[in-house]
Amino acid sequence: MGKLLRALLLQFVALAILAVGVYMARHVFTPPYPVWGLVLMQGGLAALLSWRLPVWWRWIQFLLPLGLYGAWIIQMDPWWSLSVFVVLWLVFANVNKERVPLYLTNSVTRQALRVLAEERAAQQGRMQRFIDLGCGLGGNVCFMSRLPQIERALGVETAPLPYFISRLQAWWRGGEIHAQDLWKVDLSGFDMVYAFLSPEPMPKLWQKVQAEMRAGSVFVSNSFAVPDVAPSQVWELSDRRQTRLYLYEISERPVIPLGDFADD
Ligand SMILES: C[S@@+](CC[C@H](N)C(=O)[O-])C[C@H]1O[C@@H](n2cnc3c(N)ncnc32)[C@H](O)[C@@H]1O
Repeated sequence: MGKLLRALLLQFVALAILAVGVYMARHVFTPPYPVWGLVLMQGGLAALLSWRLPVWWRWIQFLLPLGLYGAWIIQMDPWWSLSVFVVLWLVFANVNKERVPLYLTNSVTRQALRVLAEERAAQQGRMQRFIDLGCGLGGNVCFMSRLPQIERALGVETAPLPYFISRLQAWWRGGEIHAQDLWKVDLSGFDMVYAFLSPEPMPKLWQKVQAEMRAGSVFVSNSFAVPDVAPSQVWELSDRRQTRLYLYEISERPVIPLGDFADD
């Protein structure tokens, strides 16, 4: 079950426990009870019940009923809540399914990608084809498309608003953007495959990389290493967040001699 659904269910469980508690309490304390007290108890209970979720989820669980209560006190127009929800969904559509939010590659990291493209083009004596898997607002694609060492710069994105913005950027500054799921892209046509996702999809992405990328190409993951796989290189950058780029050079697939399968 997704964390979002689990968190919502736990709020309902907390509400049920609180309802039973209030029903019992009337024998001891005479109602009515202050609403703010009940709201605090709801948040506290939901946070306690969420002890198995990451710590920031417990804060969300605690603050959610308080936020709803605050909105009720100031008589907030529900259209505002709906609008905020729609905008958040348009930007973060991939969070629930892929566990990948939107955050952006910074300029220092982009310069490192430029250096990598230059090195590789010089070594291989040919231009590079670059793809950003989940390209966000398209900044990397536009940047790479302008480098003389880059033959093709492409990005795929499925969250509606980032896709729209990246299309606009590409139209203005160059590069190609597709509204495509990264799992459906054929990686065999690229020399540099870049991803800045989250720890969650890395094992599955590594399988895809191994199955599709050609020998001589490189997979670059910003910040998230592939578990249990030694990278060919790790670039530690000098930006404020001390970004690490994990480079996985794809070598020839091992050829298994047919003899190994022969019966004795
Ligand atoms: C952390 S952001 C990185 C954005 C951009 N690559 C950058 O480095 O600036 C990850 C992006 O991947 C997108 N994403 C997540 N899952 C995806 C999928 N299955 N197909 C396409 N895009 C996806 C998200 O919507 C988000 O915009």
